[in-house]
Amino acid sequence: MDIRTFETAAEAGLALARRVADALLRTPSLALGVPAGRTPRDAYGELRRLHAAGEADFSRASAFLLDEFAGIDSAHSGSFRRFLTQHLLSGVNLDPARTHSLNGVASDLRAECERYEEAIAAAGGLGLLLLGIGANGHIGFNEPGDSLTARTHRVRLLDSTQRDNAGLFGGDVARVPREALSMGMGTILRADTIAMIATGEGKAAAVERMVRGPLTTTVPASFLQMHRRVEVYLDRAAASAL
Ligand code: GLP
Repeated sequence: MDIRTFETAAEAGLALARRVADALLRTPSLALGVPAGRTPRDAYGELRRLHAAGEADFSRASAFLLDEFAGIDSAHSGSFRRFLTQHLLSGVNLDPARTHSLNGVASDLRAECERYEEAIAAAGGLGLLLLGIGANGHIGFNEPGDSLTARTHRVRLLDSTQRDNAGLFGGDVARVPREALSMGMGTILRADTIAMIATGEGKAAAVERMVRGPLTTTVPASFLQMHRRVEVYLDRAAASAL
């Protein structure tokens, strides 16, 4: 893993945004995987700024959201699609027809997951996948457990993950959906390049186990050790256990 440590979270975000802008210059038709979450917000803000300055052109790119809650639609204030629209999509020139997300209210969620795998394959696979990490070591909504699922799938969220996401639901854990849809570990590991961002002391232990720990399904991010091109953007606090 290529670990890049920055003094502050803001600096890590700026570096990640520049990384995306460079990838777009080299590959204008880039298929970009994008997470929701608090951590990438600085990077998304910088990407909107770079776009406004004529330094990041998404006109030929496509985007695939990493995951979504089940049981709420994209207009819901807690949905990741809405979060991404607010923090990134509204400020860059991604073609809506090439901006993909999982539909948490599809009538057949299994078919919806299969449709998503096919859409990623039709785009030629993910060229650059941005990732955050959960404090429990999850990536996307691939939760710690006895096994991991390779393909895009429906997942039951752990209590701790529901609590971590309560902010999107007015701080009320009871309103956080119990289930979600997520790219699988195979979907993630097939991306050409992975760029993870983690900031804050709360992520330090998960980052340490991701980088140094054994490969284990109880730390899904540890499987990133198997990938040949993983860049990790950290602030000093998230790197403190390394
Ligand atoms: C969420 C999402 C992940 C995200 C992670 C960290 O549950 N499913 O894609 O990376 O948790 O979120 P945050 O950046 O808000 O800490």
